[in-house]
Amino acid sequence: MNPNNQFLLNGRAVDLIGADPTESLLRWLKARHWSGTKEGCGDGDCGACTVAMVETDAAGRSHYRAVNSCLLPMGALPGREIVTVEGLADGERLHPAQQLLVDSAGSQCGYCTPGFVMSLFVGSHDGDLSDHCIEGNLCRCTGYRPIREAAQRLAALPVIADPFTAAMAAPRRALAPASLGGFHNPTTVADAVALKQQHPEATWIAGATDLGVNLSRGQSVAPGFIALDRIAELLVIEVGDDAVHIGASVPLTRIEQELAGAFPLLDDMLPGFAAKQVKNRATFGGSLGSASPIGDLAPVLLALDAIVQLRGPKGLRSLSIDGYFLDYRKTQRAPDELIVAVTLPKPNSLVTASYKIAKRQTDDISIVAASFAIQLDAQRRVQHVRLAYGGIAAIPRRALRSEALLLGQILGDALVEHVRANLVEEFTPLSDHRADADYRRALAGNLFVKFVAEKLA
Ligand SMILES: Cc1cc2nc3c(=O)[nH]c(=O)nc-3n(C[C@H](O)[C@H](O)[C@H](O)COP(=O)(O)OP(=O)(O)OC[C@H]3O[C@@H](n4cnc5c(N)ncnc54)[C@H](O)[C@@H]3O)c2cc1C
Ligand code: FES
Ligand code: FES
Repeated sequence: MNPNNQFLLNGRAVDLIGADPTESLLRWLKARHWSGTKEGCGDGDCGACTVAMVETDAAGRSHYRAVNSCLLPMGALPGREIVTVEGLADGERLHPAQQLLVDSAGSQCGYCTPGFVMSLFVGSHDGDLSDHCIEGNLCRCTGYRPIREAAQRLAALPVIADPFTAAMAAPRRALAPASLGGFHNPTTVADAVALKQQHPEATWIAGATDLGVNLSRGQSVAPGFIALDRIAELLVIEVGDDAVHIGASVPLTRIEQELAGAFPLLDDMLPGFAAKQVKNRATFGGSLGSASPIGDLAPVLLALDAIVQLRGPKGLRSLSIDGYFLDYRKTQRAPDELIVAVTLPKPNSLVTASYKIAKRQTDDISIVAASFAIQLDAQRRVQHVRLAYGGIAAIPRRALRSEALLLGQILGDALVEHVRANLVEEFTPLSDHRADADYRRALAGNLFVKFVAEKLA
């Protein structure tokens, strides 16, 4: 395979010359009659378009990751390996993920089935066939009981007899730099910064779980792209004595797995953040880059006093997350700067919790997200406090007035009620189709009461 202008599709090198870099892999496949992969929503919400993509880690180990092909731009594909549902069967013999869905009567109309098959296939290789493996796949007619049964039967197999285990064990080189049209894939931060100077109109893109939605809807996002998902420096997690450095392009599933237990605020928030296909691509860099007021990660960063590291033509600079967000989707980051990492101080003796209120428990956009961190002394006097929210203002923000009411005071019932009442007044959220402003205000106060009852009673 020529990594500059080809990718591997079900083991065969495929030319990318002339491909539209902003077209999704899903549409590209369909246009070439690879019709197994289905389009449901086109927005990353249903999983019908799930394919497996190979990721190779810093130690050279390769893994399949389930990703939504509707969100994956062709420009990100040079040098990559993709497996679609057509690639699984061995001649007439179905893959166990397919056969067990058949045996468990896990398919009726069949539209969702290729997506479930691909999630089960990846789950069988990465050892997770729990409900999380298929939480990003919707089925409208079969019902989930037989599909879950297929997952359980797959998990019970002593070995998965397929050729993909050997394929994963084969050594792979790191992805090479590549460009497709105006879509550039550098492999160093220095090259990314230089490319931005050559193409100031190009936009950064990482997991494409935000920008991919715009592209999938045919919106013209930018005249060019500089992708940050194959830059080794941005894919590092370093655990220090006092803090953890998380590269801006580390996918959230890696954070969920590799930092499990280190940050209870993330342990609370990440299970409710989208589904696996999205978390396999979504990044901190993308969350801070889009600066959405309803993003779930910003309250966690605010509660932990995170540091954001930026790199631009003038070099590296570090900013406190407090003050990073300026106005609706406006931040202190200059257009020619990219986020290279966030540094999270370890919470040590802080008592912390995150809450996400949405219409559905998982895979839904927050109505309000909140992250709290507090330290009490032996007399229950508040020595340190952060009350951080998303969904209650034009930017993610801390409740500074309420924090001031708490600081230095003994935490008792009367104070908790006083702070709750203050929180209800402290913000002026919007009403929208998800919730009205009064409900959001009430949540701001009630979530604090819940935190105290659950963690500090
Ligand atoms: C189905 C679905 C469910 C979702 N659920 C949630 C959810 O539960 N909670 C939530 O908070 N979000 C959710 N999202 C939104 C999205 O997944 C997150 O915002 C994610 O963090 C974006 O990361 P990304 O790498 O995919 O961003 P991209 O789409 O690649 O980029 C987003 C923005 O950030 C910029 N950018 C990316 N990386 C950098 C960088 N290193 N430096 C500077 N700018 C950069 C890009 O230019 C762009 O403006 C969901 C999205 C989908 C499609
Ligand atoms: S088509 Fe629904 S997630 Fe891609
Ligand atoms: S089998 Fe019809 S949508 Fe799942």
